[in-house]
Amino acid sequence: MSANPQNAYPSAVPVGRRTGVRANVFQGKPASSVTTFPSHPIAEVVVPKVALDAISLSYKATSGERLLALDNISLEVKPGEFLCIVGPSGCGKSTLLHLIAGLNPQTSGKVLVDGAPVSGPGTDRILIFQELGLFPWLTVGGNVEFGMKMKNVGKAEREERVQYYLRLVHLSKFRDSYIHQLSGGMRQRVALARALATDPDVLLMDEPFAALDAQTRDLLHDELERLWSETGRTIIFVTHNVREAVRLGDRVVLMTFRPGRVKQEFSVNLPRPRQMEQADVARTAGDVLDCLRDEINKSLEAEYADEKIR
Ligand SMILES: Nc1ncnc2c1ncn2[C@@H]1O[C@H](COP(=O)(O)OP(=O)(O)O)[C@@H](O)[C@H]1O
Ligand SMILES: [Mg+2]
Repeated sequence: MSANPQNAYPSAVPVGRRTGVRANVFQGKPASSVTTFPSHPIAEVVVPKVALDAISLSYKATSGERLLALDNISLEVKPGEFLCIVGPSGCGKSTLLHLIAGLNPQTSGKVLVDGAPVSGPGTDRILIFQELGLFPWLTVGGNVEFGMKMKNVGKAEREERVQYYLRLVHLSKFRDSYIHQLSGGMRQRVALARALATDPDVLLMDEPFAALDAQTRDLLHDELERLWSETGRTIIFVTHNVREAVRLGDRVVLMTFRPGRVKQEFSVNLPRPRQMEQADVARTAGDVLDCLRDEINKSLEAEYADEKIR
């Protein structure tokens, strides 16, 4: 993937962001200090961008009982990592993202961003979901500008960022269009531009492409991978589609059905860019699916049991 030569907006791609916080650690030291380095490699201490430490979360069900949605989840996400989370319907994927976004409080455990506890929503994290939440009364440009207005970004900078991010998602020509005039894929790209324009460190994506046709989804995978690679953001992407997770992720975390726990993690070491149809993507997805099958069955059994009760 080559960098886009049109990228003029300077603060969007901070140097060293993709490689973590220690990229320039020895900068500015006198040349002589180089000779004093120990001969063994120095272990990189990278503070996780997001860390979940023994998180549990229970909801109060309508019956009054408590429903344990997440059970003792510990997980670390590195700066610039593309992490995918898969699991059957009802396993707590959305709950987990809401928790990281600061929208749901955990019952116990800690959520840390850059090592600091999360106590509520913050502009460093942004949630993108399938319904998108775009405003039909605003133009494409107005939608992208909206989040920045909320953050009190000045007018000149807003203008610069609108132009930059619309170019990044190839929608410059549609700046004055309204949302109903766009295709599903274009709307997704507006939502991405709007999210990125607020300069979040972490993108939390909740099954964003689930309702799109296969061709549009494939294009958006390419776009998202390019945006991720060019902007260095950390992405936590939830999907129930295992192939999509393997197509996109550096790592795939598999959750159990209720209560949601981490069942297994898979590192995806396949070269990028990948395609959903690739044989090695299909093979890796097959391994993940083997592990997921039990959980899907439990999810279906629970759904049918609920049905019998009614
Ligand atoms: N606000 C809520 N109140 C009560 N129960 C909820 C609430 N939100 C989700 N749940 C329950 O928590 C479990 C996990 O839900 P969710 O996180 O939406 O799962 P997923 O996104 O994996 O499908 C489900 O059993 C769901 O019914
Ligand atoms: Mg969900």
